[in-house]
Amino acid sequence: LTPLKDTVDIPGMGVAIDSRETTGSPSDLLLHHFNQITAENSMKVEAWYDADRNFRINPDAVSLLDFAAANDVRVYGHVLLWHSQTPDWFFHARGTALTSSEEDKQFLRDRLKTHIDNVAKAISDHSGLFGSDTNPMVAFDVVNEVVSDGNEPGDGLRRSAWYSVLGEEFIPLAFEYADEAFNQTYAAEGSDRPVKLFINDYNTEQSAKQDRYYALVERLLAAGVPVDGVGHQFHASLATPTSSLDAALTRFAALPVVQAVTELDNTVGTPVTEANLIKQGHWYQDAFNVFRSHADDLFSVTVWGLTDARSWRSEQAPVLFDGDLQAKQAYFGAAGLDVEP
Ligand code: G3I
Repeated sequence: LTPLKDTVDIPGMGVAIDSRETTGSPSDLLLHHFNQITAENSMKVEAWYDADRNFRINPDAVSLLDFAAANDVRVYGHVLLWHSQTPDWFFHARGTALTSSEEDKQFLRDRLKTHIDNVAKAISDHSGLFGSDTNPMVAFDVVNEVVSDGNEPGDGLRRSAWYSVLGEEFIPLAFEYADEAFNQTYAAEGSDRPVKLFINDYNTEQSAKQDRYYALVERLLAAGVPVDGVGHQFHASLATPTSSLDAALTRFAALPVVQAVTELDNTVGTPVTEANLIKQGHWYQDAFNVFRSHADDLFSVTVWGLTDARSWRSEQAPVLFDGDLQAKQAYFGAAGLDVEP
């Protein structure tokens, strides 16, 4: 089969995985079609701490970094700050929940900075590859899903634990800390930071959320915050018009950032029928034609899962390969081949 990565002129053709996809036939399938990976769970905030709250690199993340380095695959990091999959103790001190007092704000700023510094250092220390030509880490989602789903008054931001202590400030701070950490850790003196810093969110193809996302990114850029890239998750269904993906990518192309499709999938409903899998093939064909038309602006396109069996929405067959590692109509569509041969 034609490698999917050869059918797009985009630097990263990515897939979200854990260490189960780094050995055996899943890894063969991965390496045939993809040249970039995202850790589906093992680089999230909670993944960096053991049960005693000690920071350490997660064994699954180690597998991914080693696999990437050995196979010349890029790594897109996910994620330095999120409201989910973050230990509760992050927002507590001395046994009580943090408030928005000046003292508690400073406490949380310091905790965030320490976390981000430790992640950058751990990745660098692990392989000793960073700052060299073989550095696999090309990007990191710095903040994930900070935009509100409803119409919160004013700033359009999610009222998360980060927000309730620090307000909007946590977003520029996360980017500044990441910029400092990755510069110190990875960049040779005088060279550019090799890790691009992304903001990431879902439903960015929907107009009201897109307005809030766009306004936030504009505000960050105007304030000189080091945002390099805008991520669109694009968790879609058969009912999602691919023209809305096109419109989202077109709108953000006006800003001085690169873009990435970070978590692509397409649910077909239940029960899964042959007719819907064919529709899905056509959906992926249209979606990938949209991505090809934005190739100049796209840093990467990542499918959220290698096979339907390993997807977070496995019952709705959302990705390109089935549980037996066989190519679905979705693969043929994505690769620009005949969906119904
Ligand atoms: O690791 C534990 C394991 O020890 C335990 O035995 C098992 C029992 O339930 O749970 C395991 O944790 C699960 C984890 O995935 C690892 O498999 C969690 O329950 C489960 O909730 C978690 O789901 C992940 C989800 O994020 C959590 O929010 C999905 O795999 C992952 O695909 C999904 O990814 C998110 C992106 O990060 C952000 N955008 C949306 C996307 C889809 O929800």
